[in-house]
Amino acid sequence: MASLTIRKLDDAVKAYLRLRSAGNGRSVEEEVRVILGELVQGRPDPAAPTAAMAPPADGPAGPSARSHAAAQASVTLIIGGGIAAFKSLELIRRLKERHVDVRCVLTKAAQQFVTPLSASALSHERVYTDLFDPGSEFDAGHIRLARECDLIVVAPATADLMAKMAHGHADDLASAILLAANKPILLAPAMNPLMWNNPATRRNVLQLRRDGVIMIGPAAGEMAEANEAGVGRMSEAVEIAAAAVDILRPPRPRPLAGKRVLITAGPTHEPIDPVRYIANRSSGKQGFAIAAAAQAAGADVTLVSGPVELRDPAGVSVIRVESARDMLHRVEAALPADIAIFAAAVADWRVANEGEQKLKKTAAGMPPLQLVENPDILATISKLGERRPPLVIGFAAETEHLIDNAKAKIARKGCDWIVANDVSPASGVMGGDRNTVHLLQRDGKEVGVDEIKVDSWPVMTKEQVAAELVARIAKSLEKNS
Ligand SMILES: Cc1cc2nc3c(=O)[nH]c(=O)nc-3n(C[C@H](O)[C@H](O)[C@H](O)COP(=O)(O)O)c2cc1C
Repeated sequence: MASLTIRKLDDAVKAYLRLRSAGNGRSVEEEVRVILGELVQGRPDPAAPTAAMAPPADGPAGPSARSHAAAQASVTLIIGGGIAAFKSLELIRRLKERHVDVRCVLTKAAQQFVTPLSASALSHERVYTDLFDPGSEFDAGHIRLARECDLIVVAPATADLMAKMAHGHADDLASAILLAANKPILLAPAMNPLMWNNPATRRNVLQLRRDGVIMIGPAAGEMAEANEAGVGRMSEAVEIAAAAVDILRPPRPRPLAGKRVLITAGPTHEPIDPVRYIANRSSGKQGFAIAAAAQAAGADVTLVSGPVELRDPAGVSVIRVESARDMLHRVEAALPADIAIFAAAVADWRVANEGEQKLKKTAAGMPPLQLVENPDILATISKLGERRPPLVIGFAAETEHLIDNAKAKIARKGCDWIVANDVSPASGVMGGDRNTVHLLQRDGKEVGVDEIKVDSWPVMTKEQVAAELVARIAKSLEKNS
């Protein structure tokens, strides 16, 4: 039997084999054996060799000659011409690790940054680069690339590609696919911060969002250009892969569908004078996480938040306020609700004699600050009568006697549940990402301390606490329906 000397193969074939074998963690010889084995077993059909087996530029294999298992999700990945294109090679791997088939399209500019050969070797698929390629366009391959997938990901999404999309251009393969798409589109923009902030890009981003395009990033950070930083870095490959998988996943159960949920979060700022205020260390993370979890469970969520440095959770209507009184007004205006969750750390007191001008140091010493009590939002809403939401949940942030104080609070305020947590400095809860909470639930309508059930949860991330709380709410609605 004849032997095969890899050294004597065509250069393009050798390069392809090297990359494919590196991508699979095999030696080149092993890779050849695997390819031959697949051929013999009829995977894929030897009569219609797929481009994944052939060097990318060869052969007539179009998008119709795919070898994917029918059940596997698939992504058409469009790689645009930006520095971040190298991260898209990792993205291919990350998607494949998650059992997603990937077919890559490289723009002309992208090929200045990464080669079709690398993308082909990592995706194990032919790579597409040309709208007028007779090998794939004999049966309108660009339409197939747009349709024969479950999701189109554009990473990096250049300013140019986004402009083309926003204006409906189709003068190359990538833009033609995007215009012909009937599948969700996920963009991972990447560009210099000045390009990102340019009014033209801002307009295009707005238009694309209105058109239903989903975006991840860009993040803030250092740029490839020396001494430049700002918003414009492409999200990391793992983040993009996770977002893609999230979109590809079958729809989640929506146990709070049709329910209106009102949530408060963050601290309040109580003015002393036009430039100073009293505040606390609440970061708002727990309330924001609950809003996101309730939204994911299908609820119509309104989040009234004090001043925090957090992005609005997707799909949640967020109302930003400053003081406790503002918060109460906006909460009352947002009623009716089926469930109200008061996670905000509302200041108990405000300054009665708020200065109209900035207070000055004087020889007479410190100006006297008179404090008055703020409205109690939890108690006010819990005792509203007819307009009271059927389930009212408060938060008790305590530094001592946690359970006793929380039990007393549930009875005093008239709410149904309390999420109690230890916020002493040693706990790291204020501003941190983890929380150790106890869920206190009133048994029936009685408010006596004895009827309160206490359930202590292990230490969790604030997202996990949010998911668990939403699950308990869903369970309780089911029980009471
Ligand atoms: C070195 C270099 C880096 C570039 N990086 C980016 C980038 O990160 N983002 C971007 O939008 N454009 C970037 N560009 C400009 C694009 O390559 C250019 O707009 C190109 O036409 C985009 O083509 P495409 O959108 O078809 O891929 C860069 C250009 C060069 C020369």
